[in-house]
Amino acid sequence: MDSSLFRVPDRLTDVAPWQGHIPFAFWVISATKPRLLVELGTHKGDSYSAFCQSVSESDLATTCYAVDSWQGDEHAGLYGEEVFQELNAYNQRKYGGFSTLLRMMFEDALSYFNDGSIDLLHIDGYHSYEAVREDFEKWLPKMSDRGVILLHDVAVRERGFGVWKFWADVAERFPSLELPHSNGLGVLAVGSEVPERLSQLIASFKSDPAPITSLFAAVGSRCQLIAEGQRAKLEFNRLNDEINRMGNEVTAERDRAEKLTVTVATLSEQISIRDELVHAQELRIEQLIESSGQNGPESDFESLKALIRRRVVSSKLLAPARPILTSVRELTSRR
Ligand SMILES: C[S@@+](CC[C@H](N)C(=O)[O-])C[C@H]1O[C@@H](n2cnc3c(N)ncnc32)[C@H](O)[C@@H]1O
Repeated sequence: MDSSLFRVPDRLTDVAPWQGHIPFAFWVISATKPRLLVELGTHKGDSYSAFCQSVSESDLATTCYAVDSWQGDEHAGLYGEEVFQELNAYNQRKYGGFSTLLRMMFEDALSYFNDGSIDLLHIDGYHSYEAVREDFEKWLPKMSDRGVILLHDVAVRERGFGVWKFWADVAERFPSLELPHSNGLGVLAVGSEVPERLSQLIASFKSDPAPITSLFAAVGSRCQLIAEGQRAKLEFNRLNDEINRMGNEVTAERDRAEKLTVTVATLSEQISIRDELVHAQELRIEQLIESSGQNGPESDFESLKALIRRRVVSSKLLAPARPILTSVRELTSRR
C-alpha cells in the first residue's frame, strides 16, 4: 500500500456510486503504471477524473481515453448536453496533455485502439448481463499482456443489473479480487503478466479477503464523506444566496412601504387642513346669516345650516384613511 490511498479527490460530483472506489483508482494507477487506460462509461467523470488525477500526481506517461455517448442510459438516467460540455472543459483544462474524451458508442470506439494495446480498462456502461458481457468480449482482444479490467456494480442485484452474474462467470477465469463496497468493484488481471503489486494484492486477498476489503472500504468511505461534505457546502451556499435574495426583496418592500407612508401622511395632512378650512367657512357663513338679520323665513335659515353640516360630514368621509396610515407606520417601525 502507499500514500496514494489518502489523496483527496479533485473532482467529486453529485453522481455518488463510484466515489467509494476512488482510493482504489488512485492505488491501481500508481501500482500498475498503465501505458494506455480506457474507460467505457464516464458520465460526470468521478471515476475517470480519479484515474487522471493519479496519472498526473504519480507523474506517469499514461495516455487516457474516456468513451461515452454522454446521453445516459436507462440505469444512469438520461441527461443533457451540459454534462459533456462541463466535463470536457474540465478535462482539457486539467488533463488535456494526456487525456481525451471520445464521444461515441463503445462499439464505434473499438477501431481507435490496436489489439493488445490497453493496460487498464474500466467497464462501467449499461449494466444488464448482456450489455456487460458484450462490452467485455468485444474489448478483451484490445487488452495487453499486462491487461487489467475493472468492472463496476458487481454487487448490485436489482433494477435489471446483471454485472454480478457476469462477474460470477469470469471471476474464476482470471486472477481476481472483489471489493464489495460502493456497489462492488471487480478487478480482473486478464493479461499473462500480472503487474507485480496487483499480483501481491490478489494473493493477499485470496488468503484472507477481509483486511483488504476493509481497508479499501474505510478509505472509500472517507472519500464519500468528503463528497457529502462538499455537497452539503454547495447546498448551504445555495440556501444562503436564497436568503440574501429574499432579504433584498424584503428591504425593497419596506422601502416601498415607507414611501407609501409619506404619501399617506401628506394626504392625511391635506385632509385635516381641508377640514379646518371647511369648518372656518361654516362659521363664517353662520355669522353672515346671523348678521344678515334673519331676513328670510326661519325654514330657509335651518335648511342652509343642514346643508353646511352635510358638507362637513362629506369632508370627514376621508377619515378612514387614518387607520391605514397607522398600520403602515407600524409595519415600517418594525425594522
Ligand atoms: C454508470 S454511468 C458511468 C458512471 C461513471 N463511471 C462514474 O464514475 O460516475 C454509465 C454511462 O455509460 C454510458 N453508456 C452506456 N452504454 C453505452 C454505450 N453502449 N456506448 C456509449 N456510452 C454508453 C451512459 O451514457 C452513461 O453515461
